[in-house]
Amino acid sequence: MKYRTIGTDPKTRREVSVLSLGTMHFGTATDEATSFAILDRYVEAGGTFIDTADNYAFWTGTQGGESEELLGRWRRSRGVGGEIVIATKVGARPLAPGTSFTDNAEGLSAPVIRESAERSRQRLGMARLDLLYAHIDDTAVPLGETVQAFAGLVAEGTVGLLGVSNHWAWQVERARTLAAAAGLPGYEVLQYQHSYLRARTDLPGSRYLEGMPGMVGGDLLSYLRAEPQLAMVAYSPLLKGGYVREDRPLDPEFDHPGTPVRLAALREVAKDAAATVNQVVLAWLIGAETPIIPLIGASSVAQLDESLAAVDLELTTEQRARLDAAR
Ligand SMILES: NC(=O)c1ccc[n+]([C@@H]2O[C@H](COP(=O)([O-])OP(=O)(O)OC[C@H]3O[C@@H](n4cnc5c(N)ncnc54)[C@H](OP(=O)(O)O)[C@@H]3O)[C@@H](O)[C@H]2O)c1
Repeated sequence: MKYRTIGTDPKTRREVSVLSLGTMHFGTATDEATSFAILDRYVEAGGTFIDTADNYAFWTGTQGGESEELLGRWRRSRGVGGEIVIATKVGARPLAPGTSFTDNAEGLSAPVIRESAERSRQRLGMARLDLLYAHIDDTAVPLGETVQAFAGLVAEGTVGLLGVSNHWAWQVERARTLAAAAGLPGYEVLQYQHSYLRARTDLPGSRYLEGMPGMVGGDLLSYLRAEPQLAMVAYSPLLKGGYVREDRPLDPEFDHPGTPVRLAALREVAKDAAATVNQVVLAWLIGAETPIIPLIGASSVAQLDESLAAVDLELTTEQRARLDAAR
């Protein structure tokens, strides 16, 4: 395994593995025994960066909490302590079973942030959440209230690092500016959907006609380049299996002329590197000029093993140039 630092403050920054493991289906679609086996294998391979959210898996008709609860049981049964960084998220939990974050989200008011973080700590069995993200934006709450509420949790020691997911780039910058002006800790870890294939960012999303704020585009990539102390965590880097599986058609945002060109480059480089397409995608992210932390999903140990092997895959300068040039 390889490691890198997320965060800047010596009191809260952490060393994490360059590959992060997502658990959104753990405890629901992925049963407990399989979930524990995947988690054990990840840790055995040196993995130290696990991702969940307070609303996983609400799409099963609940308000979520199953993934955090499973992680709490796994932590207790294995005696896991501070060596494993667990990130969770607040803000997108539906307020009633059977509803969604698109129409009925808990949001990011001060009381919600406080109460939801407390519930996450209980479910996970952690005195301090290592990293807490704002899962989606909440335009009904003044940004200053959200910034103050997150900083309050850091000040009292119940949260370590702060992160942000699925917000427009300007919202991230504004929140960070507000925090900095007030001398408060701000978001330092960004979590967005990102992979090798480029997504059309002009298509309306589930929450905004203007597009999909959760999808990495030029705004966020240039922001990262300008602010190298920020860390980018890329969710769904394997496009949920879409690179390699006929039964996983690519989402409509990848339906454009650049996609076949990039898929062809990917397959060529994979052959050349004697690696799988998925591994090339992960190695391309990890080894980028501005390194990205892929946040993968797996429903079996075999899937996880394939992704873990990508950590040791070093693309040559020529291979990387071929991938970058495809458009
Ligand atoms: N911030 C957010 O809004 C947000 C949104 C989405 C996800 N996330 C986080 O990101 C994590 C990962 O998301 P994701 O599951 O969409 O990531 P992903 O890595 O793109 O997809 C994982 C899925 O791809 C398939 N897969 C993985 N390895 C494979 C292999 N070697 N061969 C064939 N198929 C393979 C599996 O599907 P099957 O299990 O069906 O076989 C697996 O569940 C989540 O658990 C969550 O923590 C965050």
